[in-house]
Amino acid sequence: MFNAKAYSTASSTSPLASTVIARRDPTEDDVQIEILFCGICHSDLHMARNEWSGVLPTVYPCVPGHEIVGRVTKVGSSVTKFKAGDLAGVGCLVDSDGTCPACKEGLEQFCPNQTLTYGFPDRHLGGVTYGGYSESIVVDQRFVLHIPANLDLAAAAPLLCAGITTYSPMKHWGVAAGKKVGIVGLGGLGHMGVKFAHALGAHTVVFTTSRNKVDDALRLGADEVVLSRDANAMGKHAGSFDFILDCVSADHDINAYINLLTRDGNMTLVGAPEKPLSLVSFGLIVGRRSVSGSPIGGLAETQEMLDFCGEHSITSDVEVIAIQQVNEAYERLLKADVKYRFSIDMASLKAE
Ligand SMILES: NC(=O)c1ccc[n+]([C@@H]2O[C@H](COP(=O)([O-])OP(=O)(O)OC[C@H]3O[C@@H](n4cnc5c(N)ncnc54)[C@H](OP(=O)(O)O)[C@@H]3O)[C@@H](O)[C@H]2O)c1
Ligand SMILES: [Zn+2]
Ligand SMILES: [Zn+2]
Repeated sequence: MFNAKAYSTASSTSPLASTVIARRDPTEDDVQIEILFCGICHSDLHMARNEWSGVLPTVYPCVPGHEIVGRVTKVGSSVTKFKAGDLAGVGCLVDSDGTCPACKEGLEQFCPNQTLTYGFPDRHLGGVTYGGYSESIVVDQRFVLHIPANLDLAAAAPLLCAGITTYSPMKHWGVAAGKKVGIVGLGGLGHMGVKFAHALGAHTVVFTTSRNKVDDALRLGADEVVLSRDANAMGKHAGSFDFILDCVSADHDINAYINLLTRDGNMTLVGAPEKPLSLVSFGLIVGRRSVSGSPIGGLAETQEMLDFCGEHSITSDVEVIAIQQVNEAYERLLKADVKYRFSIDMASLKAE
């Protein structure tokens, strides 16, 4: 074992603060990574504050962070995918059983025995796993991704969660040229959703509550922008969408969007608000429409997404911050005041 600097929270009401955690020495299959950047996902905030207590109660101390980009410092004797000095990425998963039907299909996000990057039982050290708000991490090579060399590292980090979480459902539901696609909520996930929908050739419409994001939405690749609190503007799109991706982190009316779907249209929820949403059955019945959900993505698809980003020069629009600003960043995230992802420069942690 070795010690690593990190930021953790001690309870649902405590701020994140500097600490030291234990990391395992790499086993034969492990890759040890010096973390250079880690994105701040809204899930980090939900977890730090135990907002998902009903389904995923937070174990404290909690070290969040699952949008990790860094450089390999050491590899175990059986590691073939990486060598010291390589760039590496780690997302929301660090382990799975590798034997269940989901794993065999490369869909580790559905494995019943998966280990999330933080807050899940750590089968090596006991306790729970600790995430990327840290100077280093040790991960089985199966869960480590290659980062295309042409991407800016601070801006690539959010691809490991916000990127794959929006890319995967778009591929599953056939987003392509000729489709009309809506993205609800222009935050970390939403702005990646716009970039992917645009890159895949769809007619892309952004729904936002923030008037000051309209110009950005167009710059990011939207063909149209709708202020979602304007019922008249919403009504103009009734019955016209093939697919809508809901990336909202807080309570909101999903029925307003269901009514915008065409016959057999689908709305996928990736946003995971603390409180249950309410659903009017008739919105689904009249058009045989569906509402579904989607979790992150498997390892193969995450690598596919990263390679797609390399080919199309797609990264996240980031505000790079020092780790000492993380609590302030959480408050701004709650106010939908980030353009469009915070990325923590881990040099600021090393310097502490
Ligand atoms: N399914 C998965 O695997 C997965 C993976 C990662 C994250 N998530 C979840 O996805 C959600 C979004 O994450 P994120 O990191 O993108 O969050 P974020 O950056 O905070 O973005 C959320 C956006 O939702 C909109 N919004 C916020 N409050 C709202 C309200 N009261 N009414 C309507 N719209 C509101 C805002 O967009 P506008 O300003 O444009 O309105 C905001 O920018 C979170 O719940 C997160 O936990 C799920
Ligand atoms: Zn996330
Ligand atoms: Zn499995």
